[in-house]
Amino acid sequence: MTALTLGQTLETEQLTVALTTLTEADVEALVAVEKLAYSHPWSLGNFRDAFKAGNLAQGLKAGDQWVGYFVAMQVLDEVHLLNITVAPTFQRQGWARCLLQSLSLWSQAHQASSLWLEVRESNARALKLYQAFGFEQVGLRKDYYPVGRSSREAAVVMRMALNSTQ
Ligand SMILES: CC(C)(COP(=O)(O)OP(=O)(O)OC[C@H]1O[C@@H](n2cnc3c(N)ncnc32)[C@H](O)[C@@H]1OP(=O)(O)O)[C@@H](O)C(=O)NCCC(=O)NCCS
Repeated sequence: MTALTLGQTLETEQLTVALTTLTEADVEALVAVEKLAYSHPWSLGNFRDAFKAGNLAQGLKAGDQWVGYFVAMQVLDEVHLLNITVAPTFQRQGWARCLLQSLSLWSQAHQASSLWLEVRESNARALKLYQAFGFEQVGLRKDYYPVGRSSREAAVVMRMALNSTQ
């Protein structure tokens, strides 16, 4: 799986996928994917706030189906990944890696020198993906995320330098 830039398509044996910008018109479909994919889904409000803030929001679409997407925020020479999700039907086929590669490409083209993210300590799948991609743990924020109503869990803070090879 390779990196895509906006508007580019990728053909696999099964499907043709295009990288596209997420818009307000997509939020309901995106929230539906969130609810299927994640125990702590983003809400309509989270997506709308992200768009209002002018964050980078791109996704892979196969026909009218969302394969996956990411939302990221650039702060000077850092790009912070705020959300990355792959729809359950498309998981474990390399699409998250493709999204990360596309984000890296965009970030490098916008003079960023590093990517940052926070991930729940219990999200083994995502941690493994990020480590394999080249992110390294640089911190741990204790009791950062809520878990249910009464407990909390730590956020692992990860960083990847963008001059490294992916
Ligand atoms: C975490 C998440 C984004 C990973 O998405 P994904 O598309 O399944 O990830 P990838 O396919 O790129 O890589 C994951 C696995 O697929 C494997 N894989 C990659 N290409 C493959 C292929 N062609 N065939 C089979 N497996 C493949 C990878 O080696 C990796 O294997 P592993 O799980 O044994 O380590 C997805 O599980 C998700 O959306 N989770 C819910 C939301 C979430 O947790 N987001 C992160 C919050 S910080």
